[in-house]
Amino acid sequence: MTSGAGGAAGGAARATCAGDVPDLVTLRRTLHAAPELSLREQGTADRVTTLLRALGLKPRRIAATGVTALVRGARRGPTILARADIDALPVTEETGLPFASRNAGVMHACGHDCHAAGLLDVARRLAAQPPERGNVKLLFQPGEEGAGGMQLCLDGGVLRRPDVTAAVGVHVWQNERVGRIGLVRGACMAAVDDFEVRIVGRGGHAAMPHRSVDPVVVAAHVVTALQTLVSRSVNPLDTAVVTVGSIDAGTAFNVIPPHATLRGTVRTFAEPVRKLIARRFKTLVSGVCRGLGARAETTYRHFLPATVNDAAMVDLAWSVAEDVVGKRNVVAAEPSMGGEDMSLALRAVPGVFAFIGADNGTKQTSYPHHHPRFDVDERCLAVGADFMEGFARRYLAEAPGLPGIR
Ligand code: NI
Repeated sequence: MTSGAGGAAGGAARATCAGDVPDLVTLRRTLHAAPELSLREQGTADRVTTLLRALGLKPRRIAATGVTALVRGARRGPTILARADIDALPVTEETGLPFASRNAGVMHACGHDCHAAGLLDVARRLAAQPPERGNVKLLFQPGEEGAGGMQLCLDGGVLRRPDVTAAVGVHVWQNERVGRIGLVRGACMAAVDDFEVRIVGRGGHAAMPHRSVDPVVVAAHVVTALQTLVSRSVNPLDTAVVTVGSIDAGTAFNVIPPHATLRGTVRTFAEPVRKLIARRFKTLVSGVCRGLGARAETTYRHFLPATVNDAAMVDLAWSVAEDVVGKRNVVAAEPSMGGEDMSLALRAVPGVFAFIGADNGTKQTSYPHHHPRFDVDERCLAVGADFMEGFARRYLAEAPGLPGIR
């Protein structure tokens, strides 16, 4: 365990200071109190920019409300992207914490405040002691929560000038005890697709259904039929979720409405399974609708690929994580069916996305991500920063030349 790594039995996060940049816990609390929604992270970006400048770095805006900065090493070498997301959610905070959100209806309920604070701390450490060779490109990414922020950063050239050859990111993780680091070999988070099906029937009087095509009944059949995608079409050894999250139809108890709209999401890990479901989905929905006299207008969107950890990078991450929290505290984590747009960076360059345990076994940390009472054990902050810094330094020092790493 390196200094400052808050293991399960470890101490509080380190409180070093460089220039005008506050310590890690203060940074997190400051960001937590001022959450901003996806792609509206103006204040957060300004704050990050000021702090990076105080470290002597030259930050620049990317994707409007994102910030990137390059820490150059002493000698030329590869460049690794170290990424933190910075956006919050439309959730009304109920934690009662002294540093709770001051923006009504907006909350850092997924821990992105922790990620941003952690990366600022990494920036401080790297600015104080730059890598021997190679560069670290810091990315404070906006709009992770379904707003396409990583794609905007990629479009803005975040992986170019200098060219990025690897990437690292973390997520504070409520499913893991604080002091532990969870790693997944292969896909750690799912591909995210979404759909909208508009069922076009024929409206009329609720008492004379034979003179209508009732889209509510058709919608019910469609929802039921969709359950067979996972249970009958996907190989039982593969993994998939199909959820209809919203049904919208009708205005009165005695009226058959003219149409109904279903919305939902599909989560998969393997690309062939993803394609299979997309294909079967359209056939099934149009078949059920046609059989019942209705018509389906289907929109099916491939939103994000699965977040896939590179095999050689996981080996490197494992060894770094052992240095940070000790051998016993690095665990093979369960993949999550949640989505994450770090996936787009990890599709472009090899890298790793690690889960940083944040649960201390008390009620305080028992609430799931996106819950109004979501909170972390702040000892996770130093663990995340130690891991990110350690991974970046090891990659730059040893790659290429590591087995499996170009
Ligand atoms: Ni998140």
